[in-house]
Amino acid sequence: MSNSTSKHQKIETNIGLMIVLTIVAISFGTLVELFPLLFGQQVKEPIAGLKPLPALALEGRDIYIREGCNTCHSQMIRPLRAETERYGHYSVAGEFVYDHPFLWGSKRTGPDLARVGGRYSDDWHRAHMYNPRDVVPESVMPSYPWLFQNAIDAGETGKKMAALRKVGVPYTDEDINGAAAAVEGKMEIDAMVAYLQQLGTLVQTRR
Ligand code: HEC
Repeated sequence: MSNSTSKHQKIETNIGLMIVLTIVAISFGTLVELFPLLFGQQVKEPIAGLKPLPALALEGRDIYIREGCNTCHSQMIRPLRAETERYGHYSVAGEFVYDHPFLWGSKRTGPDLARVGGRYSDDWHRAHMYNPRDVVPESVMPSYPWLFQNAIDAGETGKKMAALRKVGVPYTDEDINGAAAAVEGKMEIDAMVAYLQQLGTLVQTRR
């Protein structure tokens, strides 16, 4: 038995030593992955043209979270050919700097939605949300008819913006003061469509 094999054997047969060395190896790997992200500007800087969500789209985002759309849909296109061919340009960090919380998701019962903005008409989305099978016969997505009955509570939108401003989303006083008027009389479906139609539209895609 060579010297190196016996050293290896010592580690593999000593569970205490094995645990310590495993922790060292994993910590090192974590640091190597984390440090560049903590100090790299590229992950903190918004991409050109990124603005905080307008009032109606912001309400749509909250409904998206409430309905758990992110449990079936990711919003994260990986830089792999199979993904970019299907969904468009891969996601970049700067697209998400105003997202609290992130809605990247990992489960794809349905397609990724990171660049769904502009892919369909507003009417298509309305029909699809009311009953997906009306437009995609084989769909297993649930229907969301109540979005057509519930009105947006215009008193809340400005407060949500003010809260987001505290964590760094650059809403202006004007945005906050104008929020109630922007969502007044709108239904939840209007907000959802506004949210979906802007998703991922800042990055050029080949589609
Ligand atoms: C149970 C899983 C599931 C849930 C929950 C779900 N979806 Fe879907 N979704 C799907 C499936 C499957 C498809 C593909 C078939 C279709 O187009 O209906 C889809 C398709 C879509 C599409 C079309 C995407 C494309 O590129 O063709 C949009 C937009 C969408 N869903 C939005 C939503 C929204 C918004 C919600 C939450 C209100 C939601 N989905 C909740 C499963 C789901």
